[in-house]
Amino acid sequence: MTLRLGDPAPDFEQDSTEGTIHFHEWLGDSWGILFSHPADFTPVCTTELGLTAKLKDEFARRNVKAIALSVDPVESHGDWVKDINETQGCTVNFPIIADHDKKVSQLYDMIHPNASATLTVRSLFVIDPNKKVRLMITYPASTGRNFNEVLRVVDSLQLTEEHKVATPGNWERGEDVVIVPSLQDEQEIKQRFPKGYKAVRPYLRMTPDPKTNWGGE
Ligand code: BEZ
Repeated sequence: MTLRLGDPAPDFEQDSTEGTIHFHEWLGDSWGILFSHPADFTPVCTTELGLTAKLKDEFARRNVKAIALSVDPVESHGDWVKDINETQGCTVNFPIIADHDKKVSQLYDMIHPNASATLTVRSLFVIDPNKKVRLMITYPASTGRNFNEVLRVVDSLQLTEEHKVATPGNWERGEDVVIVPSLQDEQEIKQRFPKGYKAVRPYLRMTPDPKTNWGGE
């Protein structure tokens, strides 16, 4: 199944290191990050899962739940978690799905046969509280993902839900944002952006980040 941005995130039930996951129920009102890795006991994957564990507070501040997946069995995941904790100096604090029958991998198109016929690639989906797919990234097995970038995109998604803005390239929390081109009413602009804006071009209007409480969540 090919998923696209804005599509409903497919629901599923599958085994995990924390028992059977009923995905939508497990997500509840949270945002979700569902990410696959090729295999247990592999070096890059070990670092990625360690990083995710260490970002627990950052995910929690953003109301995000993380869940990993590979096609290895749950017993293997359990043994590997001990290694991840030991080698990465962390405590894995999120479930790892054991997709032994490839049910979830197929639903989310995580197996790319020309990369590997049997193993999942590094797919990552951000899912919003309405269970819509909001970000999809796909990395090859040889390249670990940048989880700070994933947090940055979540910040952008959450900001642009609340305010009529979009975030420019390389944007980070607190930096100037752009006013969406569809907003043309000057009265409304004044009301929404009391600090004003700079029109670099009529279509490129920069304004200070309207969210002032990033640090205090
Ligand atoms: C890794 O996680 O290190 C890895 C997994 C599959 C192929 C290559 C590297």
